[in-house]
Amino acid sequence: MAIERLPGLVDAHVHLREPGYEHKEDFYTGTAAALAGGVTTVLDMPNTNPPTSTPERLAEKARLAQAKAVCDVGLFVGATRTEGDAYLPAAHRACGLKIYVNDTFGSLRIDTLDLLHRLFRTWAERAAQIGYRSPENPHGLGPVAVHAEELMVPACLALSQLYDVPLHVVHVSRRSEIETIRRAKERGVQVTCEATPHHLFLSMEDLPRLGSLGDMRPRLATPDDVAALWEHLAAIDIFATDHAPHTLAEKGLQGQPVESPPPGVPGVETMLPLLLTAVHAGRLTLEDVVQRCVTAPRRIYGLPEQPDTVVEVDVDAHYTLENQAMHTRVGWTPFAGMPVYGRVQRVILRGRTVYEEGRVLAEPGSGRVLFQPT
Ligand code: NCD
Ligand code: ZN
Ligand code: ZN
Repeated sequence: MAIERLPGLVDAHVHLREPGYEHKEDFYTGTAAALAGGVTTVLDMPNTNPPTSTPERLAEKARLAQAKAVCDVGLFVGATRTEGDAYLPAAHRACGLKIYVNDTFGSLRIDTLDLLHRLFRTWAERAAQIGYRSPENPHGLGPVAVHAEELMVPACLALSQLYDVPLHVVHVSRRSEIETIRRAKERGVQVTCEATPHHLFLSMEDLPRLGSLGDMRPRLATPDDVAALWEHLAAIDIFATDHAPHTLAEKGLQGQPVESPPPGVPGVETMLPLLLTAVHAGRLTLEDVVQRCVTAPRRIYGLPEQPDTVVEVDVDAHYTLENQAMHTRVGWTPFAGMPVYGRVQRVILRGRTVYEEGRVLAEPGSGRVLFQPT
């Protein structure tokens, strides 16, 4: 048994569903699942009901998170068609701004170039007043994170350059997208990106087997797209899960058939074993994992350090991922049945054992909500 001691992981892309969809997940179940996956910081997306699109809603979400979270939580604000950039006065209390440029779960899609211009321009103006977040400026603004697919990637790149805004492209899944980003980086553009475990370890060839449990946005891609992500690993800054739980009933797999199941799959507690399995197979190094799950997300989002925080993993433990072992409220994973290496034994957060051998020991509310007024 070989125990590795890793720093607490960051999952820079999760949907913890509160408020509005607590039957899928809430701040307790979602952060408990995070600890089970060796993740001690999550960044939560704004497509809740209501969405996190105003200072009041951000403050309310921070209260909800502070009451229940067992790991640290950063909160995104989101742009909406109806409220535009109403979040701006509280922009520095969010980990970043999320813009949905393509269709996905929720109602936050921005569909005019006019509004997109405005969102980038006003984020830049606010940043000109208070600066971007950095170790020297913890109260500055985070980056603009975009759900942008295909042609929307160069569109967002262009806007971010026009207004000089740091851009982060979430869940990159296609060859054309990662090649565009790689070229932009080579030319000195300020852009970063992330890839999910499901886009790295699954492809559309898994769809017949997975059915609606393999449906998410962006969709599972071709084997060539998957190969491109691995080829251009150097251009992928972050591994993040896009943990997006929906119930089996909503997915049409329990009770009544469902006409159009919501896209999205859970992932926060399976990322580390999947990545460690790739390390075991020689496709990644442990350093690659720490770089993309700790160092880079901290730098890109200006996250505070977590002192005395350690994840102890038995990297040789060999077992099969199973639905019953999951901590997420929805109780399933698209990776069920997959043999993996690497089991999280213990998580210590700020000197306290918060997770041990399958059990969450932390009290609800012991996690911190980042960037909030004290
Ligand atoms: C996400 C969700 O369910 O909130 N769904 C998904 O398919 N990825 C939304 C998103 O990240 O686009
Ligand atoms: Zn998305
Ligand atoms: Zn998402």
